[in-house]
Amino acid sequence: AQRINLAVVAGDGIGTEVVEQGLLALDAALSGSGSTVTTTDYDLGARRWHATGETLTDADLEAIRSHDAILLGAIGDPSVPSGVLERGLLLKLRFALDHYVNLRPAKLFPGVASPLANPGEVDFVVVREGTEGPYVGNGGAIRVGTPHEVANEVSVNTAFGVERVVRDAFARANARPRRKLTLVHKHNVLVHAGHLWRRTVEAVNAEFPDVTVDYLHVDAATIFLVTDPARFDVIVTDNLFGDILTDLAGAIVGGIGLAASANINPDRTAPSMFEPVHGSAPDIAGQGKADPTATVLSVALLLDHLGERDAAARVEAAVAADVAERAGRVRSTAEVGKDLAARIAG
Ligand code: NAD
Ligand code: IPM
Ligand code: MN
Repeated sequence: AQRINLAVVAGDGIGTEVVEQGLLALDAALSGSGSTVTTTDYDLGARRWHATGETLTDADLEAIRSHDAILLGAIGDPSVPSGVLERGLLLKLRFALDHYVNLRPAKLFPGVASPLANPGEVDFVVVREGTEGPYVGNGGAIRVGTPHEVANEVSVNTAFGVERVVRDAFARANARPRRKLTLVHKHNVLVHAGHLWRRTVEAVNAEFPDVTVDYLHVDAATIFLVTDPARFDVIVTDNLFGDILTDLAGAIVGGIGLAASANINPDRTAPSMFEPVHGSAPDIAGQGKADPTATVLSVALLLDHLGERDAAARVEAAVAADVAERAGRVRSTAEVGKDLAARIAG
């Protein structure tokens, strides 16, 4: 039993709607476990930026750092210039808290309709690098707005950064029945980063001889994700490829409303952060239409990370039971959240 000190960043758009349901699931999962959770809300996102011009201050960051974990809804709003909140808040948290493993499971639950006619048994995880790649912001532009504008985005890949995420991915593959790791990159074009990733996977494979390694260029990976997703077990890839592939992965296992993620600091030098893969969905925000299931499954990842394995398993089982009975029903965000919490409580 433990006392969990949770930071909550509900954020923008549907973020606030889905986080409310995620917290109900968390309470239900811990009831009777002896463990308790105390939450602290952080007012971050579009509202705060309009009011103060702040995205994430040093004081916010240090306060958040003192928690055991973070639950985040979504960041980003059409009223704020694109990139301000995404970079200044979300990516700043991932980088500052060294979330180098962005774990994004893709599992097709029995009874869930996939847009694929013959998906097969889909159950893989994407280990997306979380602190490097083109996300670093090591680019720049000159002569902006002129015909001679030059706009560069530079992908940063360090031996240290690639090796630590590759080792984590191997360890995850080694602990799964199929023991298969697929590196996804584009080393036929991105020869500098691509070969660093390829060599690193080769070298770390020596430490995990039971893991079978496969390689796909990212373009071909998108083919197989649609034609034969069952071939994947663990995918390891860079920050940007991982971003794109995991929206696709979410779509093939029943929709982005089911896709969960964990931004993990495996060394536990700072709290890990749990959030749905999706964004703030301005097109449906405020309408009670958002599916909170991705957030509830992210709560399962949070519980598992904190060692609350039984509680995590109960959340996953509740989602599995709920999604199996969804066909043809339309429920609001709150209705889905209430149904899930009731199932979790048993
Ligand atoms: P999005 O994921 O917000 O929405 C894409 C589509 O999926 C929309 O049609 C939306 O209605 C739908 N959708 C998303 N979540 C859903 C849910 N839970 N239930 C039902 N439908 C859902 O992506 P976008 O439109 O590209 O981005 C919108 C904003 O969110 C942007 O500001 C973007 O930067 C931001 N964003 C934030 C995060 C994050 O906070 N982690 C992730 C992705 C995008
Ligand atoms: C995600 C989002 C973020 C990303 C954006 C909003 C910075 O798309 O969590 O997948 O690209 O990582
Ligand atoms: Mn994304």
